[in-house]
This record gives sequence, structure tokens and C-alpha cells, in this order.
Amino acid sequence: MTTRIIATGAYVPEQVITNDDLSKIVDTSDEWIVKRTGIKERHISLGDNTSAFAVKTAKQLIEKAGVEIKKLDLIIVASVTADYATPSIACIVQKEIGASNAVAFDISAACSGFMFALSIADKYIKSGAYNNAMIIGAETLSKMVDWSDRSTCVLFGDGAGGVYVEKSETGGIIKEEIGTKGEICGILTGGYTPCTNIFNKNEEKTDHLWYINMNGREVFKFATKSVVKSVEKVLEGSNINIDEIKYVIPHQANARIVEIISNKLKIPYEKFYINMDRYGNTSSASIPIALNELNEKGLIERGNKILMTGFGGGMTWATMLISW
Ligand code: COA
Repeated sequence: MTTRIIATGAYVPEQVITNDDLSKIVDTSDEWIVKRTGIKERHISLGDNTSAFAVKTAKQLIEKAGVEIKKLDLIIVASVTADYATPSIACIVQKEIGASNAVAFDISAACSGFMFALSIADKYIKSGAYNNAMIIGAETLSKMVDWSDRSTCVLFGDGAGGVYVEKSETGGIIKEEIGTKGEICGILTGGYTPCTNIFNKNEEKTDHLWYINMNGREVFKFATKSVVKSVEKVLEGSNINIDEIKYVIPHQANARIVEIISNKLKIPYEKFYINMDRYGNTSSASIPIALNELNEKGLIERGNKILMTGFGGGMTWATMLISW
């Protein structure tokens, strides 16, 4: 028995912010951003919060998969930019789509979050606890970006993507490998909320820790190493040859990271599906937005093998090989 993707969905806010737009806010240029990252533009929320994007994605999934809403068992949303600490985004989604019998919760694994969530759903389904699940990665990173810091503000975008999965006899998740390296968690941080209450005199200045702080070079090194190792493990463990893989969907953080991964793994660059030029890094939404695009364009057929691989804050990484 396996867990198979039945439908994909995605939603990004309408407002497009180009590199030239950003060069009016910080000291940067289209040339620098494209050369160092491959990003040309990103979609930025004009006020909608993360749950709005997740709900729009969930509604697409319901429609595309023809889900009988009361039969939906599980909703997991991965995000580091939830509207509230509580309720979770998944609870808001449950309410908005009327999936009153679904268990709903969020998880936090930054840019690896979508695949961590899919991994959890897969275990519930394989254990027999649930028959189906909706997994969504949703982010409004624009509220956690310091728009005066050129080294980070050019990288990120807002949006959501997701999949609806079901228990299946064929296809589905073939092999996964996920991991965490907490010892270097300080190289990528954001969203810090200090402990202040009436019983302490916490005068620590922590406002800046709300914003995404990143040691770009260390993250770059981590990304290339962890993804390469993870993909190697998945390919070895599944006895599947690179030639049998139709597409690799990498986390859409930086085209140079993808080039290095492609070279190290000797996987032709053409096999990597890239859309960071239009969305930037949307964290947990990046892989499902790309998967949905591939699907919507009719580029994948049942039986195709697809490798999804990413990395993110934590530090975390995740690779999953699926049969479509
Ligand atoms: N525009 C123009 N110049 C910029 C700039 C920008 N947007 N951002 C940084 N610079 C400058 C720096 O100030 C530095 O100038 P200096 O040499 O005068 O000090 C120079 O460019 C080089 O900076 P550096 O940080 O060494 O660049 P880089 O080649 O490492 O690229 C990143 C920076 C962030 C693009 C790159 O490190 C990266 O992509 N890292 C991974 C980040 C990532 O994937 N994060 C998401 C994790 S999920």
C-alpha cells in the first residue's frame, strides 16, 4: 500500500514585484540578483495573510480531486509564517472548506516543511489510521523580511501550494529521506518573539530577530551538501537510476545551488524544474507550487518518476521519490 498524489493546487498573490522595483528600495540591481540567484520577480501579498493562500489552495484541491468534503481525514499545513500561534492555519482551512471530520494541524520545518508534512501524512496512511490527506505549504514571507536588508529581501516571495493524497495500491511515494542538523540552526533564523511578561524586566533588544537573518554562504554550503547526500541515499535505497527520473523538483531558493547539485549528482540540469525566476523562494510553498505547475502544464503522466528535494531552516532537508 502506498500514498499517492491525486491532485495538486497552488495560489500566489497577484502583485508582482520585479528586481527593478526592489532596486528602488535597496541598493541592488536586476543584474546582481539574476546572476547570484536566478530570481527575476516574486509575488508579494498586499494584505492577505497566509491562511488566505492556504484556503484558496485547499479549495482547488477539493475541486480537482472531487473530494467528498466530509470524508477528508487529515489536513496538515507547513508554514513558518502562520497568521496566529493559535488557531493553526490548518484549523482555519478546515473551517473554510467545511472538512469537519478532518484532523487538522500545522508543522514547522521551514522550506522542508511541505515534504516533512507529506512524510507525516504518508505514515498515517500507511498505518491505516487515515485514508486520505491534504498537505499544504503556505507562506507570507514578506512580513518576516527586513525590506532594508538587500542580502535577504531580494530572495523571498509569498504563496501556497499543496497536494491531496490517498491510500493507493499503485504509484505513490517510493522512498524518502528527511533529516535535521539543529547544531547549526543559527545560520538561518526568523520570527523570534521574546519572553516578556509582567513578572520579568526583559530589556533585551530583540526586534531585529523577528526578521529573517541568514549567513548566506553557510546556508549555501549546507544546501549543496545536504541535498546531494540525501538524493544519493534515496536513489541508492530505491534502486532507481537517474535516467528513469522524469523531473527533479528542487526547493526554489537559488539557481546556482541547483547547478551545483546537478553537477555533483550528474543529473542533467534540464531535468530540474525551475520557476524561482517568477516566484523567488516561497519556503514551504516552493516545491508544491512547482509540482502544480508541472501538472497544470500537462508535463507529467501517470507512472512518471519525480524526485522532490529541498532544504531549509532548522537546518532541515528532505528528499522524496514518487511515482506519479
Ligand atoms: N544586491 C547587490 N549586492 C548585494 C546584494 C544585493 N541584493 N546582497 C548582497 N550583496 C553584496 C554584499 O554586500 C557583498 O558585498 P561586499 O563584497 O562589498 O561585502 C557581495 O554582494 C557579496 O555578498 P555575498 O553574501 O558573499 O554573496 P553571495 O554570492 O554569497 O550571494 C546569496 C548571496 C544570499 C545570494 C547566497 O549566499 C545564497 O543564495 N545563499 C543561500 C541562501 C538561501 O538559499 N536561503 C534560503 C534557505 S531556505
